[in-house]
Amino acid sequence: MSNILITGVGSYLPKKVISNNELPVNLDTNDEWIKKRTGIRQRHLVTEGELTSTMAIAAAKKALQNANIDNKDIDLIIVATTTPDKTFPATAVMVQSELNIGIGPAFDIQAVCAGFIYALNVGSSLLKTSNFSKALIIGSESFSKILDWSDRSTSVLFGDGAGAFILEKSNENSEWGILSSNFYSNGNFSDILHTDGGPSLNSQVGKVRMNGKEVFKHAVEKLSSCLIEAMYSANLKIQDIDFLVPHQANLRIIEALSKKLDIPINKIINTVDVHANTSAASIPLAFDNALENRKIKNGDIIALNAIGGGLSWGASIIKYGKPD
Ligand code: UT7
Repeated sequence: MSNILITGVGSYLPKKVISNNELPVNLDTNDEWIKKRTGIRQRHLVTEGELTSTMAIAAAKKALQNANIDNKDIDLIIVATTTPDKTFPATAVMVQSELNIGIGPAFDIQAVCAGFIYALNVGSSLLKTSNFSKALIIGSESFSKILDWSDRSTSVLFGDGAGAFILEKSNENSEWGILSSNFYSNGNFSDILHTDGGPSLNSQVGKVRMNGKEVFKHAVEKLSSCLIEAMYSANLKIQDIDFLVPHQANLRIIEALSKKLDIPINKIINTVDVHANTSAASIPLAFDNALENRKIKNGDIIALNAIGGGLSWGASIIKYGKPD
């Protein structure tokens, strides 16, 4: 049975940084509230010419370079996004064309903040069951474009950016790569985090609407349960985790996970303070940040988990990199 290695990681953040104090004054919010309730200090926001596709391409370039593989060797491209450049075609085909990757499947996945976990699951399953050997998995979001900038309960929470993983199939080293994963949705909770528009509903893009308190409760419970299940499937104990890279939505969720799962807080990567919530991009962005800061190293056991609109959620356990 082949296994799927993660051999390259890359990310991109828009240059424009907005601190809490620089948010529009009409929002009736303040730095103290945002920091205390969310841990967020700033967010990166796209400007003219920066699109979900251009950020995805920049993150992908870095991941390809990092994996030291040629663009032409990629067999499959998946972009997880809720904020594509256009309703169609998929953002993934723009990545394919711009990077000269050549003909092969390229498509988007829409599972909002859980999108990267979904893309990882779908991408690794496809590699295992086909003659493809390398996949480019991207999470890229311009979430600022679907925020209601007069709603302080949502607009202060999100940021823009992109991150990418290179997946490679291997018939050796079975103890490396994706060790276990799961993903779930429960559409009964679709109304607690959604947009109030879409092509078929009212031909609008729609703006983000959220019952934050309800989502918070589900987040702590479901992020914990899927992670425990993934650890069990990988035949590992919580103590075996070198780092948890959770979806970055709220520092209080991260702290609650630390307590509930008994994972020391210094083993949980936290970038919500500087990136805010970047939806499907948050896990690869945080992962790349932890690599740059020399926290995550080749061979580390890393847990990933995310939850978002749907509700959709899931977790993966990986042994990062490949044997030297
Ligand atoms: O990525 C998908 C997953 N998303 C999440 O996991 C988000 C989960 N939810 C959360 O992170 C939190 O629920 C929020 C950060 C969204 C909200 O925090 P909270 O502690 O649940 O606050 P709340 O919604 O209960 O609001 C408390 C108060 C309210 O005022 P009153 O009614 O007590 O007078 C709000 O109107 O805080 C007020 N408030 C604000 N005040 C200043 C809400 N937003 C703001 C704001 N600035 N930005």
